[in-house]
Amino acid sequence: MKIAVLTGGGDCQGLNAAIRAVVRKALEYDFDVMGVQRGWWGLLNDSVKYMNLNSVSGILPLGGTILGTSRTNPFKHPNGPDIVLDNIKKNKIDVLVVIGGDDTLGVAVKLFKMGIPVVGIPKTMDNDVAFTDYCIGFDSAVSIVCDALDKLHTTASAHHRVMVVEVMGRDTGWVALVGGLAGGADWILIPEVPTNVSQICDHLNRRRSRGKEFSIIVVAEGVTFPDLDERELSDIDEFGHPRLDRRNIGELLGRLIEKRTGFETRVTVLGHLQRGGAPTVFDRVLATRLGVAAVNLVKDQKFGRMVALQGNEIKSVELEDAINNSPKGVNIELYRLAQLFY
Ligand code: F6P
Repeated sequence: MKIAVLTGGGDCQGLNAAIRAVVRKALEYDFDVMGVQRGWWGLLNDSVKYMNLNSVSGILPLGGTILGTSRTNPFKHPNGPDIVLDNIKKNKIDVLVVIGGDDTLGVAVKLFKMGIPVVGIPKTMDNDVAFTDYCIGFDSAVSIVCDALDKLHTTASAHHRVMVVEVMGRDTGWVALVGGLAGGADWILIPEVPTNVSQICDHLNRRRSRGKEFSIIVVAEGVTFPDLDERELSDIDEFGHPRLDRRNIGELLGRLIEKRTGFETRVTVLGHLQRGGAPTVFDRVLATRLGVAAVNLVKDQKFGRMVALQGNEIKSVELEDAINNSPKGVNIELYRLAQLFY
């Protein structure tokens, strides 16, 4: 049996822990293992290489991915799927173990339907892949958000300012919600709950009248405001997503708040800091469990499936079902809980 492992889409903490687990378990079963470079790009460009124990030695705590990643979508390239199939055949790869979010895993579903055995492992700091409670990378990202909010609290209170903190989250508000809840945010804006700017300003005024001289507002980058005309977004990636870092929603919100309330406001965009550095304990353990479980699916020849964390158990689900039900929106009860502390 020869498996090939790849990481696709945005990087996050815990990818190397997952790669290590896949390689170690596969070698234990005497499988051959190849690493595909830079996600689907590597199968379009025949960039694959053998991996052994040494390839994964010492990588458990490392951020990023030793395989590299990209947002390449082979189905958007001329003859892309045929080239990928040819390279899989040429390298005698029997199974692909795909570590990715909904875009990367969506490509895996299409290849599976074309006859390629695949197994998926959910990773994305956005935490929006369906049927898994946690995706690799989410816990590390929200820990960074929480740490940032703790720091911003002290400077916000010293200056009696409103702090707007923009966090990642293209389609869903998991990072904003869980990071904001843990960090004591005074308002959390997420794509799932449209909010008018006027509601936020009213809330800030109410807080001031209660004697609260500073406020922390967490905004997910994918948020839209029903009461605002948005300017056109230009850059679109191969999966059809706009570059949200160009949208500056935090900056826009900060300026509007200052203008409408008169409160001095500062904006912090946490950006790619949220995806950098070492994974948390939770992500290391999750990635290790999911990586080993994925190789067990390969061993049992259960293809077209995705490993998942449900409760505290590792299960597997139909990959296609997971993709069809993604992105998974936030738990609204948790959102209501956070509102209690505004
Ligand atoms: O897909 C995960 C994610 O972190 C999104 O929340 C964010 O919009 C996007 O990646 C940004 O990715 P990059 O700037 O690396 O392309």
